Amino acid sequence: MKTATPKVEIKQLAKVYPNGDGVRDINLDIREGEIITLLGPSGCGKTTILRALGGFIDVTRGSISINGEEVTHLPPEQRPTGMVFQSYNLWPHMTVEENLAFGLKLRKTPKKDIKRRIEEMLEIMRLPGTEKKYPNQLSGGQQQRIAIARSLLLEPAVLLMDEPFSALDAKIRMQMREELKRIQAELNITVVFVTHDQEEAMSLSHRIVVMDKGKMAQVGTPAEIYDKPASTYVASFIGEMNFLERGGEQLAFRPEDVSIHTDGNGMRSGVIRSIMLLGHYASVTIQTENTTIKAFVPRHETVELEEGQTISFDLNKLLTYKKGA
Ligand SMILES: Nc1ncnc2c1ncn2[C@@H]1O[C@H](COP(=O)(O)OP(=O)(O)OP(=O)(O)O)[C@@H](O)[C@H]1O
Ligand SMILES: [Mg+2]
Repeated sequence: MKTATPKVEIKQLAKVYPNGDGVRDINLDIREGEIITLLGPSGCGKTTILRALGGFIDVTRGSISINGEEVTHLPPEQRPTGMVFQSYNLWPHMTVEENLAFGLKLRKTPKKDIKRRIEEMLEIMRLPGTEKKYPNQLSGGQQQRIAIARSLLLEPAVLLMDEPFSALDAKIRMQMREELKRIQAELNITVVFVTHDQEEAMSLSHRIVVMDKGKMAQVGTPAEIYDKPASTYVASFIGEMNFLERGGEQLAFRPEDVSIHTDGNGMRSGVIRSIMLLGHYASVTIQTENTTIKAFVPRHETVELEEGQTISFDLNKLLTYKKGA
């Protein structure tokens, strides 16, 4: 297998703010054509890493290389990066075309090339013919696509996106995920995406970096992170997880890995506390001797279940963690 130089190499990066907050021990290689997502709760350091990549803050330690060249101390305009924010930051007094042409003009791109490239980019964004519109004549999702287009026209080696879809409503946000995946694959761009929404991260990313208080808790594909969380922190942050104590260990299992039996054939027993129908499946709460656990069961299986019923259950897949891990 060919081992290409990573598109982005982050080594021993730290950014410590005067009060001691910030990020530490960030080591990450990002491959060309990869969507990598920084995921974690508010304040874990996602934006700090993105700003460091874009050159908007001075780092305390460590280095960043892009395309094999060190950029750690270069200002934003000398880096091959583009940035897309949550607020689209389009100029309201300029048309779509003027917004898109701005950066290209600064680069002295010939006029006729600008026109052609804008046309092509609007085609890719599925917004052809919107050149003469003003931002306020477009929906939020459309404005964000124009903001992405504006970044992409400058052909960045890496596109940095800080919660770009957070201001959009749920349905548009899902569509934008699909669009971003399509555009990313079509243009083979490298994207560093920031979100605190685990579903967004799971659905978009080739790999996810789960952050915890300024450090990387785990890096992996969505499946690796979901199936083999490296710690109870990751396990509880991604998806839903039940925890049980056993001796010095924590046992963890997902609600979909609990199978309920009404014939008493399961290994453990409990009483059904509630059954909540959530669409094609139901969430069933089971009270056991020591704790309450959650099980997801296919809708058709709930016809045999009722609140107050004693059932038995098996765990199909169990993760174990040392206490405190
Ligand atoms: N300019 C600053 N000066 C001092 N502390 C800062 C500064 N910017 C961020 N911090 C702190 O650094 C930590 C990481 O902040 P950062 O903005 O990177 O988090 P985030 O993961 O992007 O959070 P959110 O999801 O809320 O956007 C936080 O504790 C924050 O309070
Ligand atoms: Mg942030």
